[in-house]
Amino acid sequence: MESLGVSLHRLELFDLKQAMGLEKACYSSPWTTANMVSELNREVGFNLGLFRERHLIAMSICWLIAPECHLLNLAVHPGLRRQGLGRQLLRAICLLAIKFGAKFFHLEVSVSNRPAQALYKSAGFRNVGYRPNYYPEGTDAILMTLDLLNIYGPQSGQQIS
Ligand SMILES: CC(C)(COP(=O)(O)OP(=O)(O)OC[C@H]1O[C@@H](n2cnc3c(N)ncnc32)[C@H](O)[C@@H]1OP(=O)(O)O)[C@@H](O)C(=O)NCCC(=O)NCCS
Repeated sequence: MESLGVSLHRLELFDLKQAMGLEKACYSSPWTTANMVSELNREVGFNLGLFRERHLIAMSICWLIAPECHLLNLAVHPGLRRQGLGRQLLRAICLLAIKFGAKFFHLEVSVSNRPAQALYKSAGFRNVGYRPNYYPEGTDAILMTLDLLNIYGPQSGQQIS
């Protein structure tokens, strides 16, 4: 991560303002502040932020209920895309999730979100299901799963602190 000039930290309620700024910059139907507060406060929340000079440039929101990890949100600042940040963040989530006991990683992605689908496929996720009308605007979602230990190996969680 340092090689990209960024640092990885747990995303806290303290980061709410920046998290909402990034959320609004990244989605046409962003979460409300109440949604974000509830995710940042969630007991099983496993939330990470990539910071450059204290500015939040990418974030992930997950639930970690070992042996399952579930991704709810992954967002990279629009001006910083296609530089490998999404891939690096996803890899960090996977390694840390393994460290905390996860074996499987699940997510839903919109059928129309080709960039995210391509990212997840390149990381080893497989399509395992379909969720009609999953999003509030009625768009369908693809359910994708990653077998973490198969892709990264059981000792891989020790690679990250
Ligand atoms: C999806 C998202 C997180 C990707 O972040 P990113 O930092 O641009 O991704 P990376 O640069 O690490 O790209 C990794 C790979 O993903 C795929 N990818 C990323 N953006 C893509 C695009 N616009 N078109 C096609 N493939 C794309 C490519 O395979 C890419 O590898 P490559 O650059 O070697 O070809 C980012 O586009 C984003 O924040 N989108 C809005 C929020 C969102 O939709 N989140 C997903 C919710 S499920």
